[in-house]
Amino acid sequence: MTEEALRAAFAGARVTIAGGLGFIGSNLARRLGEFGAEVLAVDALLPDLGGNRYNLDGARGRVAIEIADLRETDAIPFVEGREYLFNLAGQTSHQGSMDAPFDDLDLNCRVALRLLDTCRKVAPDIAVVFASTRQVYGKPHYLPVDERHPLAPVDVNGIHKLAAEAYHTLYREVYGIKSSVLRLTNTYGPRMRIKDGHQSFLGAWLRAVLEGAPFEVWEGEQLRDLTYVDDAVDALLLAAAVSEAEGGVFNIGGGRRVTLKRLADAVIIANGAGDYTIEPFPAARKRIDIGDYHADDRLFRRVTGWKPRVALKDGLARTLDYYRGNLEPYL
Ligand SMILES: NC(=O)c1ccc[n+]([C@@H]2O[C@H](COP(=O)([O-])OP(=O)(O)OC[C@H]3O[C@@H](n4cnc5c(N)ncnc54)[C@H](O)[C@@H]3O)[C@@H](O)[C@H]2O)c1
Repeated sequence: MTEEALRAAFAGARVTIAGGLGFIGSNLARRLGEFGAEVLAVDALLPDLGGNRYNLDGARGRVAIEIADLRETDAIPFVEGREYLFNLAGQTSHQGSMDAPFDDLDLNCRVALRLLDTCRKVAPDIAVVFASTRQVYGKPHYLPVDERHPLAPVDVNGIHKLAAEAYHTLYREVYGIKSSVLRLTNTYGPRMRIKDGHQSFLGAWLRAVLEGAPFEVWEGEQLRDLTYVDDAVDALLLAAAVSEAEGGVFNIGGGRRVTLKRLADAVIIANGAGDYTIEPFPAARKRIDIGDYHADDRLFRRVTGWKPRVALKDGLARTLDYYRGNLEPYL
């Protein structure tokens, strides 16, 4: 599907984004606003997560914001009469899910179930796209990881995201609620949380180089693939717009795999300066580390024609450029 076809698919569409002030949600909202969609961004702006009012500052088009906590607020006004629901409201921290497992349960399961159950009651024709995570696989048995890989999460967050995926499958099978699930890998780009490592280690690295401070790389040989946020937004839009993607569960990767040490070097090259030290993995983190990961996302590419468009070095340069002009609201 071309950019023009995507634009046409969403022009005038009524779209709700749960977690719309967060990192990925706000980038999606901005894009949909440019397409002429009528966007409602619902967000609780929870302090430990990536939500930031500034993320939708100056968004073009019709982008409305509703501050509400979907753990407890009635979701009817947010889904009734809407054509699409993107659920990006969740908590992403793996260690956070171990430290506060019941919070993770509420944020990642209760919210997804509440949204789906409200759709069943008042918006049975809505199309739902759920942002899941590669964490549902646990420690890979082989690389790259395809969708047939065993599901054995190594932390509470992965278990809850897997349960949320299963709610979508169930509500589709039993009630006919259209849905698709994307298992995202590490996503980065403008509007990610950089004030600390809560959202991802890369956020903390970016802040450090922007402020001229060294950062820590734990071990450094782990393999990862990263998705630039515009590519993740493309994937979310295609998951909603391509009818063959409906009902699917798909990996989303980002192209070339990279060791963390090489990623650290790429950050420094993109910034023009910086320094890091290699440190051992902190013990608590090591217990839930998944080791190497690299997605096989050929299924999604085949079904939708998606492919990542932004190479790592360009994505890092664009991200650092963004923060150079907009640092204060993110600290
Ligand atoms: N960023 C990544 O690398 C990554 C990787 C894999 C999966 N994901 C998934 O993608 C989704 C979005 O991630 P993100 O990086 O944009 O995170 P984020 O923290 O930036 O955004 C999540 C947003 O959801 C909001 N939110 C959370 N609970 C809420 C609630 N109860 N009611 C209303 N709003 C609520 C938060 O305030 C925040 O603004 C998450 O579900 C995450 O698990 C992200």
